[in-house]
Amino acid sequence: MGWQEYLDTHQNRFVTELQDFVRIPSVSAKPEHMPDVVAAGEWVVARLRAAGAENVALYPTQGHPVVYGDWLHAGEDKPTVLLYGHFDVQPAEPLELWETAPFAAELRDGRIYGRGASDDKGGMMAPILAAEALLQTTGRLPVNVKFFFEGQEEIGSPTLAPFVKDNAALLRADMIISADGGQWSETEANLLMGLKGLVGCEITVTGANADLHSGMHGGGVANPLHGLSQIIAALKGADGRINVPGFYDDVLDLTVEDRQAIARVPFDQEAYIAQLGVPDVFGEEGYSVRENLWARPTLELNGIWGGYQGGGIKTVLPSEARAKITCRLVANQTPDQIYALMAAHIHSLCPKGLRVSVERLPGSANPFLVPRGHNGTAAVSEVLSTLYGKAPYAVRTGGSIPVMSLLLQELGVHGAVMAFGLNDENIHAPNEFYRLSSYRKSQTAYCMLLERLGQG
Ligand code: BES
Ligand code: MN
Ligand code: MN
Repeated sequence: MGWQEYLDTHQNRFVTELQDFVRIPSVSAKPEHMPDVVAAGEWVVARLRAAGAENVALYPTQGHPVVYGDWLHAGEDKPTVLLYGHFDVQPAEPLELWETAPFAAELRDGRIYGRGASDDKGGMMAPILAAEALLQTTGRLPVNVKFFFEGQEEIGSPTLAPFVKDNAALLRADMIISADGGQWSETEANLLMGLKGLVGCEITVTGANADLHSGMHGGGVANPLHGLSQIIAALKGADGRINVPGFYDDVLDLTVEDRQAIARVPFDQEAYIAQLGVPDVFGEEGYSVRENLWARPTLELNGIWGGYQGGGIKTVLPSEARAKITCRLVANQTPDQIYALMAAHIHSLCPKGLRVSVERLPGSANPFLVPRGHNGTAAVSEVLSTLYGKAPYAVRTGGSIPVMSLLLQELGVHGAVMAFGLNDENIHAPNEFYRLSSYRKSQTAYCMLLERLGQG
């Protein structure tokens, strides 16, 4: 039996297994789900062993654990390929908007619905199932393989850096392929050439030592909510420019070739507007929507709270107001530098009569660009071209995968992405799903990729 036939024969079992995996609520953001993240890691350990991987173990970090396993018998003349994915998921809230429970993993219309089905549990199964199919049908793998799965990607991999540093020898590889990312459509492929970085902060503005009667004290002291609003408003202009001094200093300008490459990828602005239900697009002036989405840094207010939110009227002058902000970064910005600039500027904007404090949020990522002519990306491109009958689009994303720049830093290897999630699958949102057709295709793609890499 060939691996294609093996995959077909065992597809029902693979689907049931993905359902079991999705049923583990491995939400890394919530401390009460820590045991579930561990359980998901243990599930991956068992599944890797069943697939035929060796030296499989759950490794602790200062935070959520990681899983490592390998199969290193292809021979010294064959490359070693590190295959990556994550088994943690985003929180499922708002729960009331799910049609079926987020961790029920229900099958409907050829799709598995559930938090993490697409991002990234469905995705990270592909390299495991491909390895199983090849081992079961040929008794070996065409290349040496290392599996590396983490349980903290969705919170910005806050304790992954020391793990990667301390275990650089274990992870050492000639090539890195991420099974986290996405594909263009069911019929067209893409090559991911860039990811953004990320850094965030929480701002607290405080006034009086307790909430006040706004008639007794309004006009006498400053209002923290109002002060916070003034700070927030000052951070970004109506022209979409971020007004933090020095923010753009390290930004690598888009070259003519970069802009041409981005313009070659189809984009229908009217369809984009209609799909999102917005009255218009908005971004930094002087750049196309695509350039802003893929290659310009952003600053977004993610949450702002304080004061009275209940029904009716309450004449309160709140004692405190808070906001969370994150910035998506592009080459060559760094999280440390941008955080320092933001914190200094926010302090400098502190209105009279109030105190402001800024705290860095845990989890961050460096921006990541794949160099042109990169070997891993070339192999992925060949496989996708064969599979889709057409060359993939060269795209970037505004999303982040912190491990990519960590692995580059510690192993000196640029990762390539080969993943099959589609952009309508509601990742991070209610009713996330993964297509069984994508699941099946991803298994073929990883078998083809491993074979391709084995041919040198
Ligand atoms: N898989 C996504 C990143 C992604 C999305 C890549 C779409 C390509 C296309 C990943 O799981 C993710 O959501 N990352 C977080 C990282 C953050 C918490 C540091 C993100 O981008 O918000
Ligand atoms: Mn992901
Ligand atoms: Mn995600």
